Amino acid sequence: MKPEKILMCRPDYFEVNYSGNEFMKDNIGKVDKNSALKQWEDLKSVYESLGFEVILIPPGEGLVDMVFTANQSLPFVDKNGNKSVILSKMKNEQRKEEVRHFRKFYENLGYRVLELPGDVEYFESMGDCVIDFQRNILFGGYGFRTQEITYDYISNYTDFKVVKLKLINPFLYHLDTCLSVLNSETAVIAENAFDEDSLKELRSSFSKVITADTDENLKYFVCNCHCPDGKNVIVQRGSRIFSKDIKESGFSLIETETTEFIKSGGSVFCMKLMFY
Ligand code: ARG
Repeated sequence: MKPEKILMCRPDYFEVNYSGNEFMKDNIGKVDKNSALKQWEDLKSVYESLGFEVILIPPGEGLVDMVFTANQSLPFVDKNGNKSVILSKMKNEQRKEEVRHFRKFYENLGYRVLELPGDVEYFESMGDCVIDFQRNILFGGYGFRTQEITYDYISNYTDFKVVKLKLINPFLYHLDTCLSVLNSETAVIAENAFDEDSLKELRSSFSKVITADTDENLKYFVCNCHCPDGKNVIVQRGSRIFSKDIKESGFSLIETETTEFIKSGGSVFCMKLMFY
């Protein structure tokens, strides 16, 4: 069952004040907060203009990365039709507190809230899980922010078919920085993100694979695009090769600005969560 609501978090406390990934390193103290808020509001409007209901989770004071709502939880519907969620275990200390806010949010909505057992130390949910809802396949990235063992539990808790993918490039540290599923036939991938077996697995999973240009992906986070409806592809403005490939594949391109968030290592896909 495909989620239809969008969850976002206002970037009231957003900034880069620690070095949590390769992008943050050089951007400490460099976020323009007014511009970040404007970019976030524009992205919210894009979803609304496509007819999606955008729900907001209140930002936790001082939680600079809470705006990246893809990372704290994995919502799903269980076999009996119950709305359920698996909570993340954030890798970086600076983000652990965010999960508490998400737990409260889901409890208020009456979700069944699941936690991973003690042998899982880190798991960053929809940063590393990219789902094809039509075929019920969950592509699960591991290596940087999520441990491989997590997927044994996810296979048990959910009825997704899980396809594990090993990430090997520190710049592409979440699966959503190197894979976007546009629909059941089409995916965008960054080839330099995966080990050989994972790349083979991915290529055989889709009849059409759009390969992102390496430089464009680093600059515009094109693999972090989001196609919420199988037709429209929302992405950071500026790519040439990617834009052309997307249009030629029959999708509509919606370009928007997320440059302030790219300073922190995230773009469109990271700034929202689809939930029930
Ligand atoms: N600064 C955040 C972090 O390092 C960025 C998260 C980006 N999110 C994503 N889904 N790729 O955790």
